[in-house]
Amino acid sequence: MNGAAPAGAPAGSGTAAFDAIAPTYDASRGGTARAAGFAGQLAPLLDPAEPVLDIGVGTGIVAAELAARGHRVYGVDLSPGMLAHARGRLGARVAVGDAGRLPVRTGSVAQAVSTWLLHAGPDPRAVFAEVARVLRPGGRYLVIPARGMRPTDDIGRIVGALEDRLDPHGTRQDSPGLLAPIAAAHGLRYEGPASERPAVFHVSPEGMARAIADGRLFTGAWQIDPADLPLVTDACTRLRALPEPWRPRVREMADFVMVFRKV
Ligand SMILES: C[S@@+](CC[C@H](N)C(=O)[O-])C[C@H]1O[C@@H](n2cnc3c(N)ncnc32)[C@H](O)[C@@H]1O
Repeated sequence: MNGAAPAGAPAGSGTAAFDAIAPTYDASRGGTARAAGFAGQLAPLLDPAEPVLDIGVGTGIVAAELAARGHRVYGVDLSPGMLAHARGRLGARVAVGDAGRLPVRTGSVAQAVSTWLLHAGPDPRAVFAEVARVLRPGGRYLVIPARGMRPTDDIGRIVGALEDRLDPHGTRQDSPGLLAPIAAAHGLRYEGPASERPAVFHVSPEGMARAIADGRLFTGAWQIDPADLPLVTDACTRLRALPEPWRPRVREMADFVMVFRKV
């Protein structure tokens, strides 16, 4: 998703960004409405008889919604600040851990999920290698991407181009086109998108320019290198040069679940 909506962390910078935004994370990302929406997309794809491993569980807001639907959810996250909130929701079922080095036994997991993780900094090759290790044969990894489908409206084109300039190697992309070959290299077959849920939101070019002007993309979760600020300034200028920059655009995107199966 583009712009002032969700979430990432500076690649390679550890968890500082998420520790810092943990107290406001839930409210700034759509609160329980987002979490309930995601849980509603994931739940029909999960076996209620098997535990679920939520990789990058964050504050546990999505995991708690899955638990409310009868699933036994365990969580791992790198950020102690985010996990402190998850502990309040899930108790001892959450632990600090790196998605690229899961503290989980080989072949012990029937199903795992990640929502808004793979754009947020971890190396997807390391994550898929670990998911392939911990899943049983036939086990599934369900991923809700943050930016799997970029909005293609006039704001989206400018912000998308900015993201590409800031992240030329695509380490913050979590589209099927990028992830499916990585998964396949680790023995996880991409079975396609599922549970598509269209979403509509409103933002003006001016609003977007203000949201990103100081280089805090995705409401603070992606703090860009100050040396790259001119790229942001340039994008803001382009946003403000669009026709009627104060007029909110109706922006359309779709949340969907990527289904990977260990073959
Ligand atoms: C955008 S948040 C999403 C949190 C939660 N899944 C949700 O949807 O609300 C991304 C989360 O990924 C975590 N994260 C980033 N890199 C990680 C890694 N290498 N291992 C485990 N968690 C990581 C962050 O700490 C953060 O909690």
